[in-house]
Amino acid sequence: MTGDSLVLNINADVKNIRLVRRLLRTFLSFKDIDEDEIFKLELVINEALANVVEHTYKFDPSKRIIVGLSFEGDQIHITLRDFGEKINFSEIEANLPSDPLSENGRGVYIIKNIVDEFRFDDRVKEGNLLHLKKTLKKSTP
Ligand SMILES: Nc1ncnc2c1ncn2[C@@H]1O[C@H](COP(=O)(O)OP(=O)(O)O)[C@@H](O)[C@H]1O
Ligand SMILES: [Mg+2]
Repeated sequence: MTGDSLVLNINADVKNIRLVRRLLRTFLSFKDIDEDEIFKLELVINEALANVVEHTYKFDPSKRIIVGLSFEGDQIHITLRDFGEKINFSEIEANLPSDPLSENGRGVYIIKNIVDEFRFDDRVKEGNLLHLKKTLKKSTP
């Protein structure tokens, strides 16, 4: 591993979604990443965290989420680790609304459209570990 990484161990509090979004923005702006890319990744982290807070943890702010942000070469790797009930993502995906403009079911659609890799790690025994990866554009001077 040659790049920089941040590990954040946070409570599943709705307020912390904004905190992580801002930390991600700061992290990427220190790497001279294009504003457009930062904005898209803010959407990604927002939707991914909202899903853990809302669906996995049912808005219980005493639960924990470990967020990993690591930057290597021109790629960012985001991991979200939770300790809630294991989700069956293929089942979730099969039940997503086909209309991306429908009231719910937009989060997963947004994330998948932005990132290059969206994968739940099936090796974890307890809880869930989501991996998201994206190649990023540097800002033009
Ligand atoms: N982390 C998660 N844990 C459990 N279920 C999830 C999780 N993420 C997504 N889901 C399921 O996938 C569905 C679609 O998620 P999403 O596209 O973000 O839409 P929304 O959150 O608005 O329902 C959710 O309604 C939920 O049933
Ligand atoms: Mg959602």
